Amino acid sequence: MNNFTFYNPVKILFGKGQISAISNEIPQGARIMVTYGGGSIKKNGVYDQVMEALKDFEVLEFSGIEPNPHYETLMQAVDIAKRQQIDFFLAVGGGSVIDGTKFIVAAMEYKGADPWDILAKREPVTNATPFGAILTLPATGSEMNSGSVVTRVSTQEKLAFGSPFTFPKFSVLDPETTFTLPVRQISNGVVDAFTHVLEQYLTYPVNAPLQDRMAEAVLLTLKEEGPKAVHNPQDYDTMANFMWSATMALNGVIRTGVPTDWATHYIAHELTALHGIDHARTLAVVLPSLLRYKSGNKKAKLLQYGSRVWGVNAGTEDERIEATIQATIAFFESLDIKTKLSDYEVGEDTIKKIVARFEERGVKDLGERADIQIPDVKQILTMSL
Ligand code: NZQ
Ligand code: ZN
Repeated sequence: MNNFTFYNPVKILFGKGQISAISNEIPQGARIMVTYGGGSIKKNGVYDQVMEALKDFEVLEFSGIEPNPHYETLMQAVDIAKRQQIDFFLAVGGGSVIDGTKFIVAAMEYKGADPWDILAKREPVTNATPFGAILTLPATGSEMNSGSVVTRVSTQEKLAFGSPFTFPKFSVLDPETTFTLPVRQISNGVVDAFTHVLEQYLTYPVNAPLQDRMAEAVLLTLKEEGPKAVHNPQDYDTMANFMWSATMALNGVIRTGVPTDWATHYIAHELTALHGIDHARTLAVVLPSLLRYKSGNKKAKLLQYGSRVWGVNAGTEDERIEATIQATIAFFESLDIKTKLSDYEVGEDTIKKIVARFEERGVKDLGERADIQIPDVKQILTMSL
């Protein structure tokens, strides 16, 4: 097992009715900005529950944070929050609202010229305004990690940052808030969480059987509960299991002491940046080709994953690896998530664009062995056509 440091200070309030408990988690007298998206929280009663819980606080609202949150919008929130002397934020929504709020709280305290540099130049975050989260979409794990992905519309860039200062102080996970999710977002959530686990598991063995089995537990649970969630999104127990699985997929626990890949995410973000394709769908396109392209490096873990998660035990090693990748594709497709670039009307011109911007950005050494270079990215994307 590799050395590791594990730090996760996020307090989780899980279950029915937990929104009412947030007033105990926010400092008395705080001036709060509630951030949210396009209004789903007003249709499902979450907004009313939040406002009721915050009735003894000074509250300002900032709505309109888009899916794949826009830097341009988030900077408007920073501007208002500074003028209004906001000292606590509450993000209410999916990964985009939570990620967007992480950028806002970091930008609030940023001393440099332009907070975009936190993303573009990897300028360190040295402080942030505190915030909490109320999750309404199980998918990203943002509710229990410190990462954030922000899109700049003017340049069509989608970049990530993280810092020890951008963990939520608390997150409420009430499965009832998910009952209004459209099927498309549930499928997205299952595939995103599943891919998060694979990026931390399908690398190479370092004799970490506990981490392997914890990763497999999350995969097996998503495999069982994901289709149930799609078919019955108002079943409390199903959504509870899905919700906790998605959080466990990316809260840092399963990646302790093991190598991680993240090349699929890095490449896939470009497809959202350039074409606005849902995050999970871009992963479903890139992942199968990446696994095929890197099957030599990932052989031992692919065979283990195939056997333990999909029951693939027959045939030569090559046949088992291909059957395992096919099983993964079939799982995604069964959730109505397409796995080819052509399904999204994306062609070779986009691959050229991605290669050109990676060259400009000096991208190199992706993947768990830091051996995926730009020509490899081109190959992987070409295999996804
Ligand atoms: O904006 P509203 O009206 O709230 O509607 C949202 C949005 O249109 C809707 N929605 C959310 N909860 C709902 C609901 N509709 C009905 N009922 C509910 N309960 O769903 C739509 C999508 O929401 P969004 O937040 O964009 O989805 P998701 O949670 O999948 O987040 C995706 C973003 O997270 C980033 C992605 O790149 C993308 O920008 N990621 C963040 C990560 C992290 N912080 O660790 C890791 C991930 O790999 C990912 O990159
Ligand atoms: Zn993801």
